[in-house]
Amino acid sequence: MASKDAEKVIVLRNVKKVYRMGTERIVAVDDVSFEILKGEFCCLLGTSGSGKSTLLNLMAGIEKVTSGQIIIKGKKIHKMNETSLAKFRQKYLGFVFQSYNLMNSMTALENVEFPLVFKRVKPKVRKKLAKDMLIQVGLGSRLGHKPKEMSGGQQQRVGIARAFVAKPEIVFADEPTGNLDTKTTMEVMNLIQAIARENRQTIVMVTHDPRLASYADRIIHVLDGDIEKIEVQYDITDPEVYRRRVEEARAAAPKLTESSPPANKARSKKTGRTKRKERPKQEAAGTGEEKKAADASIARVEEKVMEVIDRIDTQETPDKELTEGLKESVQAMDSGHSDAEYQESRGNEV
Ligand SMILES: Nc1ncnc2c1ncn2[C@@H]1O[C@H](COP(=O)(O)OP(=O)(O)O)[C@@H](O)[C@H]1O
Ligand SMILES: [Mg+2]
Repeated sequence: MASKDAEKVIVLRNVKKVYRMGTERIVAVDDVSFEILKGEFCCLLGTSGSGKSTLLNLMAGIEKVTSGQIIIKGKKIHKMNETSLAKFRQKYLGFVFQSYNLMNSMTALENVEFPLVFKRVKPKVRKKLAKDMLIQVGLGSRLGHKPKEMSGGQQQRVGIARAFVAKPEIVFADEPTGNLDTKTTMEVMNLIQAIARENRQTIVMVTHDPRLASYADRIIHVLDGDIEKIEVQYDITDPEVYRRRVEEARAAAPKLTESSPPANKARSKKTGRTKRKERPKQEAAGTGEEKKAADASIARVEEKVMEVIDRIDTQETPDKELTEGLKESVQAMDSGHSDAEYQESRGNEV
């Protein structure tokens, strides 16, 4: 029943990565080839130092291959320059890290909303998507909390909401439960799986823990920079197998109790506040000059947002200079421009 047409969303061919430390050569990845299918939950499993994170970083274009090819969604990652890579990451990839990498100055809602700014999603829609995502991960009652005001498990759920909010086709997760206790680990694993299965998203997860790898459809065993073996636990090219995996994921989805019921709507009905006062719509485009200036100022803020998000995704901490006043810039951008100016959503093209 297996379909031959299953989309190979990630292809690695003879990938090699050599680090040079003075005169020493460290072969972190040694002539590795494998494929990952669309919708697959794939684990890179191996002991510490085996080369898992290097492989993930190569796939995300964070590290450059020494030789070989990496093709994601038909695009040659190894040939892209930094700008194209940053755009590619924002369009197609989501990231979950062991250390959460949230912006401490921002609330849960702002952290999750942030990746959507660059996508030109209207502010109202952005907030709604971020809120819905946080409700889905059981944090509906923590929208206004800052990372420091939440537990590790809650912070990682914000991280998951941020990674998934823009519905990326592929999510990379490097030891996402590394800082969590056993119970929270299971919650987070089930949560990632449940969200990904609903949208047939591809997950590539790095772990050293065989118990966590047992969640995967495909386990790629990494040993000393090489692939020891590839274990297909569930052949998702078989539609029946995939259907069962989706059902299992749904059944295992954690019942996260903190989510607040959508009380706001009910209340507004009671008080008759069902309709918000319509704000007078701004003219989308005034004179040509005004439009140009507006576009330029949106572009400036977006560029900055993009730089900050990409730093987070590539695991560099965005420096203060870059993040200071960013929230205010985004707010100014939102209030200075009408919804109509956001209409031209970038969609998913690169
Ligand atoms: N930036 C780097 N410079 C030099 N050596 C590195 C670098 N990153 C990783 N390595 C080495 O490459 C090997 C694989 O590391 P890594 O991919 O982090 O392993 P894992 O994630 O499986 O623990 C290790 O020997 C590590 O020391
Ligand atoms: Mg690692």
